Amino acid sequence: MDLDFKGRVAIVTGAGGGLGRQHALALAKRGAKVLVNDLGGAVDGSGGSVSAAQAVVDEIRAAGGEALANGASVTDFAAVEAMVQQAIDAWGRVDILVNNAGILRDKSFSKMDMADFRLVVDVHLMGAANCCKAVWPHMVAQQYGRILMTTSSTGLYGNFGQANYGAAKLAQVGLMQTLAIEGAKYHIHVNALAPTAATRMTESLFPPQILDALQPEAVVPAMLVLVHESAPTRTILCAGGGSFEAAHITLTQGIHLGLGDTVPEQLAQRLAQVTERADEQVPASGAAQGTLEVQKAMAARG
Ligand SMILES: NC(=O)c1ccc[n+]([C@@H]2O[C@H](COP(=O)([O-])OP(=O)(O)OC[C@H]3O[C@@H](n4cnc5c(N)ncnc54)[C@H](O)[C@@H]3O)[C@@H](O)[C@H]2O)c1
Repeated sequence: MDLDFKGRVAIVTGAGGGLGRQHALALAKRGAKVLVNDLGGAVDGSGGSVSAAQAVVDEIRAAGGEALANGASVTDFAAVEAMVQQAIDAWGRVDILVNNAGILRDKSFSKMDMADFRLVVDVHLMGAANCCKAVWPHMVAQQYGRILMTTSSTGLYGNFGQANYGAAKLAQVGLMQTLAIEGAKYHIHVNALAPTAATRMTESLFPPQILDALQPEAVVPAMLVLVHESAPTRTILCAGGGSFEAAHITLTQGIHLGLGDTVPEQLAQRLAQVTERADEQVPASGAAQGTLEVQKAMAARG
């Protein structure tokens, strides 16, 4: 299978460096026209300049590709709408949105300032929502779209000192779940990527020999597969150092206890049965939980 992007228009946010830069270069190399967005600030989100995005645009053009720079903050909906319009004015459509922009404000929860919590949620969750909202009507009208959320192992599984970041990153998976369901009839596929890579964001977290094994370009194949015409939808891929895994949000079969004064005690006693993972499912939508519960309630009535 040839993962070709000729004729496709992509927006990659936070593409002035790190993973986003690799995503933008790879999409351009495979034929996409790429709008390279980056606020150009520091890891904690302070400052900003369009020069980071422009440098990647220059790189793409030097290699014979087509690209445009944009310095909007994904937190600014009006600026995000203008960014999407910039791509539409230049190329007439937007096929692919890679929500990659992100910042960190790490601290243990007891020391975390709520302003830092809010800012991280604003960039990761509201930033992704702003970009999705701005491309959505275009994707609906053209009956085609590919949207990628950048989640994180922290969002999926937790990490000390990253309560704000973890909450914001799993929220992007929640956004993916419903947008994938709502987008299905318009051929809009929505997926999520949990990368592990040596970038400025992680350079202080890992020792040098680990950073050496985590080249950002090793994550790119997962991005390409998740935004290609042949992409699945509602898939969470994990990628790092050339390895690929998938994460699932599952529902166990559980038990039915009904009503009664002793249900709390029965539940406490049989908790291991409720959390037992044999026969768990990956629900196709939130309705699966209610459906299962109604089925068990009806079965108990006989
Ligand atoms: N590197 C990893 O191991 C790792 C792990 C999990 C998730 N991620 C996620 O991958 C994405 C890319 O991170 P990275 O590791 O390449 O770090 P990075 O700091 O190199 O890249 C993030 C980019 O986003 C830009 N950005 C920040 N706020 C912005 C805003 N408001 N508007 C537009 N652009 C903005 C920054 O300027 C920067 O260029 C992030 O969403 C990050 O949370 C990275």
